[in-house]
Parts: sequence; C-alpha cells; structure tokens
Amino acid sequence: MPVDSISRPLLDWYDHSARALPWRSPPGSAPPDPYHVWLSEIMLQQTTVAAAAPYFQRFLDRWPSIEALAAADDEEVMRAWAGLGYYARARNLLAAARIVAARGGFPQTESALRALPGIGAYTAAAIAAIAFGEPATVIDANIERVASRLFAIHTPLPAARTAIAEALSAHVPAERPGDFAQAMMDLGASICTPRAPRCLACPLRKACTAHACGTPEAFPVKPPKKPRPLKLGTAWWIEHDGSIALVRRPPRGLLGGMPALPGTGWAETEDDSLPFGGQWHRLDTRVRHVFTHFELRLTLATTSVAERLPELAGQQLRWVPRSRILDEGLPTLYARAVRLVLESPQPQMKPEMP
Ligand code: ADE
Repeated sequence: MPVDSISRPLLDWYDHSARALPWRSPPGSAPPDPYHVWLSEIMLQQTTVAAAAPYFQRFLDRWPSIEALAAADDEEVMRAWAGLGYYARARNLLAAARIVAARGGFPQTESALRALPGIGAYTAAAIAAIAFGEPATVIDANIERVASRLFAIHTPLPAARTAIAEALSAHVPAERPGDFAQAMMDLGASICTPRAPRCLACPLRKACTAHACGTPEAFPVKPPKKPRPLKLGTAWWIEHDGSIALVRRPPRGLLGGMPALPGTGWAETEDDSLPFGGQWHRLDTRVRHVFTHFELRLTLATTSVAERLPELAGQQLRWVPRSRILDEGLPTLYARAVRLVLESPQPQMKPEMP
C-alpha cells in the first residue's frame, strides 16, 4: 500500500478540520514554539484538552519562555499546577525547564528529549514531530485505536503496541509529521471514537481494513480480563455513648490517610478476629467493594464499650457521634459499611469493659 494512501487524505482532512488549540500552529504552517509544545504535552499527560487549555494559558502569561519558567519560584509553580494533580510532574517540569534553559534550548531528537525529566517515549516523539518536524511515530491512546483499526491488528493490547508502531511508522510522512500526528489525534477524538465510530465521515475509510471488514469497534483488541482476586476482612464498629471509633488509614497504600473503621487487615483468607472480648454482633450482610486490583468483602462486627478507648492495637481512635459519622469524608467502602450498620436493627447489648 503506497504511503500516501493514508497520510495524503489525512493531511487534506486536517487542513480543514484541525481543532484550533492554543499550543498549535495552523495546519501546514511553521512549527509552534517547542516550549509551548512541551508544556502542553506535559499537561495533556494528565488531563483533557479542554481542562489543559486554561492552565496552559495561565502558565504562558506568567512564564512566557522556558528561561522565565527556569527562573521561577518552585512554590509558585506548584501552586499554578495545583488542580492538575501529581506534583511529581510539576517538579519534573521545573527540573526539565532548568536543564533546557541551561543548555540554551530543547534538544531536537527523540532520544535526547527522552533524557529530560518527565519525558517518556510518547512525549519525546510528540515534541520531536510537532516542534522539530522529525518523522517520529507518535502513539497516544487515540492514535493507538485509529491505527489498530486502520491495520486491523488482531493481537490484543498491550502486545499489539509493537505491531501498531511498526505498521504506523511506515506511513509517517517526511513532510508535516507533526500535523500527521495531530491529525491522527483529532481523528481519534472526533470520528474514530471508541464506540460508534463515524466511518462515513472518515477520510481514511478507503484505507481502513477494520472498516472493510465491518468491525471497527472490535479494535483495539482488549486483553482477556483477569479475574479479580478476592480479599476478606472484618471491620469493627465500636460504640460508646452514641459515638463511634474511627481510625486513620496509614498514609501510604490504598485509601492512604483516609478515615476508616478499625478492623483486621485484608487477606485472601478469612480473618474474623475481634480486638477484645465481650458481646459482639456480626451483621449478616457483607460490604462488597471493587478496587482496581481486587474485590474486597468486609464483615461487620459491632459492639458497645463502657469507656472511650484512646487507641486500639497501636492505632489512635477518634470518637465521632453517630449523627455526624457520614460527614467525616469516609471513603465509599466505609461509608457503605456505616450505612449498613445504621440501617440494621440494633441488637440489645449492654456496654462492656474491654
Ligand atoms: N493530546 C496530546 N497532545 C495533543 C495535541 N497536540 N493535540 C491534541 N490532543 C493532544
């Protein structure tokens, strides 16, 4: 298949359909400022085009050049980044700005760009193609989808990535590689969408194997779903005089730093242990919660105590009135557990000394 069968119709389409974005130059014109391209790509690593645009504008108003950003006060940059999340990105941004300013400008090749903090394979290729006209193969999630359909790559992700890059690289034009990459992005965002792609409006319809097969939505092929492992645990509802004991989860790890009911750890085998003796009531219903990497089922055990314990198994307890417990910013898992207890009939128990 001649290379032109993809890049030509795609660039023709881009000439009249390109999204006008603040970090772009118009189709076919001189490449944009590398500082703008880099800044936008770092922002777009973690947010959408619509959300990034105002941040991008504010950064440029405050720091119009890479030299200005390199000389910025760290805390001010962190504040300007707030809302984009992941402070590590803002720290890398500053570190990269200082390296680039010190060396007198951005490096222009993919491999030299990759050596900068915060720049991975995708970002290096995007900057090389868009800012420096290097025929780099740029692949983000949109492009991955478009290319997997175009070439009907049957290998499931993530293994498909090698085949996608190989097939697409043969079509990256020597002229306008940056426009080619951004045209692929726009096509993925507006026409070759994950569901119900608008093939009749697609400039690549004639070249597209998945369209010819009538199965564009079958691509990219997803990896078979691994079953989620199941974890079990017990949460303890400890009540004293209308107040409930809460703990704070350890700062690192799942639900890090968030308020929670005290309880056992979570493990593959059941742990129904209780922290002290006395009269406990176990609820029949478990709380089920699906985390990314496992499913959790928590049993609830409730009791009343005769005094406010200051701590339990080395963890500090905070006592919160029943009526305010749902205002504590509990994560969903524990908010559900609390509702379950509040809505279940109260067993008659007399408070006990632990
Ligand atoms: N996402 C990441 N980079 C982009 C760009 N240059 N244009 C549109 N969307 C993008």
